[in-house]
Amino acid sequence: MVAGVVDAFRARGRKIVGPCRAAAQLEGSKVFAKNFFVKSKIPTAEYVIVEDAAGARNAVDRFGFPVVLKADGLAAGKGVVIAHDRAEAEAALATLQGRLVVEEFLTGEEVSFIALCDGRDVLPLDPTQDHKAVFDGDAGPNTGGMGAYCDSAILTAAESREILERVIYPTVEATGYTGFLYAGMMMTADGPKVLEFNVRLGDPETQPLMHRMASDFVPALVAAAEGRLGSAKLEWRAGPSVCVVLASGGYPGTYESGRPITGLDSAEALGATVFHAGTRQGPRGIETAGGRVLGVTAGADDLETAIGRAYRAAREIRFEGMHYRGDIGRKGLERYNKKNVGT
Ligand code: AMP
Ligand code: GLY
Repeated sequence: MVAGVVDAFRARGRKIVGPCRAAAQLEGSKVFAKNFFVKSKIPTAEYVIVEDAAGARNAVDRFGFPVVLKADGLAAGKGVVIAHDRAEAEAALATLQGRLVVEEFLTGEEVSFIALCDGRDVLPLDPTQDHKAVFDGDAGPNTGGMGAYCDSAILTAAESREILERVIYPTVEATGYTGFLYAGMMMTADGPKVLEFNVRLGDPETQPLMHRMASDFVPALVAAAEGRLGSAKLEWRAGPSVCVVLASGGYPGTYESGRPITGLDSAEALGATVFHAGTRQGPRGIETAGGRVLGVTAGADDLETAIGRAYRAAREIRFEGMHYRGDIGRKGLERYNKKNVGT
């Protein structure tokens, strides 16, 4: 999309769901996105754009710790470092090259809010929550996403409306945005703020979304491509769904591929859907071929049961070096339990 695939399809009169090259800059360049948020009065973290390490050190002094450093361009989910002290900031500056966004660290609940847009109308998908850090308890470096869950209860109706009114509609109005608009949100004490935009469905958010989607996706996609999204609808299953990502040893650093995978059939026999990401057909069956290898996804009437089902299925699967987080959906569950105790 950043290279212009949507523009090329349209120039040939073909249907496609996605943003044009110009709008894809909202994901392709963090600097472009931040400038757009400010121009369009979309709430986001305070930031400074810096051209080199010296500029970055000044900005870090201004914000204090923790501080967030972001590489400008596409980085497969690995261009963001949260530095907790000067040593971590220096280590980040040694790896993140070129222009950077340095920004204030926000706290709150993180939510992935994804909407299908046709340049005028908007069809929001149910909210999801990703787990970006590699280890349990949000420890370790950021990844593309180690697991996600989808549940309408992640946001109240008022919170969803606020994100639509303050983030999604202003973007569609300002850019005539088409395709999936993914707003990575932090629900802060001062209201929802944008962490980032992606111009596509998220990975692994899409796996639990697909698991909960009760209606046929294709008519909604065709309506979006034809600019008549106003007439489209999506139905969702009532209960939540959970996706646990099984990753290769070493990921998000360097990892090896070509490890044979066993247990895929037994995982599915337990009622899970196993989405393939980094796999390929090897000489002796399916083997690993990427950092994030599989997304083991299951649903239930309640979050605790859905988590249990996803993990039971994940434990059937084996490959050398395999690792995964053990706490996908757990924070959500604690939040729900607290709410229930309070009422
Ligand atoms: P991004 O690619 O900008 O979404 O950053 C990746 C991840 O880093 C986010 O999903 C957050 O978990 C975290 N992050 C990014 N920006 C901030 C911020 N300003 N404050 C706190 N966490 C952040
Ligand atoms: N899960 C975040 C992303 O797809 O970028």
